[in-house]
Amino acid sequence: MRLLFLGDIVGRPGRSAVIERLPGLRDRWQLDCVVINGENSAGGFGITEAICDEILNAGADAITLGNHSWDQRETLVFIERQPRLLRPVNYPAGTPGRGANLIDTRSGHRVLVVNVMGRLYMDPLDDPFAAVDRELETCPLGQVADAIIVDVHAEATSEKEAMGHHLDGRASLVVGTHTHVPTADHRVLPGGTAYMSDAGMCGDYDSVLGMQKEESIRRFLQKTPGTRLEPGLGEGTLSGIAVEADDRTGLAKRVAAVRLGPNLEETWPRFWD
Ligand SMILES: [Fe+2]
Ligand SMILES: [Fe+2]
Repeated sequence: MRLLFLGDIVGRPGRSAVIERLPGLRDRWQLDCVVINGENSAGGFGITEAICDEILNAGADAITLGNHSWDQRETLVFIERQPRLLRPVNYPAGTPGRGANLIDTRSGHRVLVVNVMGRLYMDPLDDPFAAVDRELETCPLGQVADAIIVDVHAEATSEKEAMGHHLDGRASLVVGTHTHVPTADHRVLPGGTAYMSDAGMCGDYDSVLGMQKEESIRRFLQKTPGTRLEPGLGEGTLSGIAVEADDRTGLAKRVAAVRLGPNLEETWPRFWD
């Protein structure tokens, strides 16, 4: 099984990069499941239903969110009718939408996708470790799910690494999102779970975390109110991780970073070409 996870889509440059490149990559790499974090896809803040549909139509099987889940108020409503859009599973009981779902992929596989948010330097939510444990217990890898992908939306690499090791052997991929900067620590953990502390973002890297540089810099120089942060205007780059998983066990066999587009050193899974 071939899995692709892409980090936070930021604004139009991120959306355009996904829409222009993903259909070709699905084809070229014969991808079985594609999951993308979409928490910044609407002008950097949240996601709309139209954008959600656009990303799914481009070839994503599921979309995850994070601390920007509700920046667009319409998400509180349409998430109830969109089973492929997931918000963090450790929000309080009664929060709209769902945090995990067993997704039927176009290739006929069943992939459990879980979105969870860390607590270090983030909003204090329910215990992310216990929340993911509950989801995996009801849907074990290699039995109910052909593959399991966990998006850990968190600030601290310590919390993300701890989650990776905690889930080692029980998930195909544990991947961090939220920092918008890709890390170089992608690997297969000893128990067979692919791991990467942060997938990076899909967006304009000639920016500060995907947003235009000028206002971002100004906010560090002057502590006075300024203008709204807007996404960069340059060409977007795709960033994430590719995983080849065993068809029987669902565990990872090999991983590669994916960075396609300007401003970052390009790389892709040579083992699929
Ligand atoms: Fe983000
Ligand atoms: Fe975030």
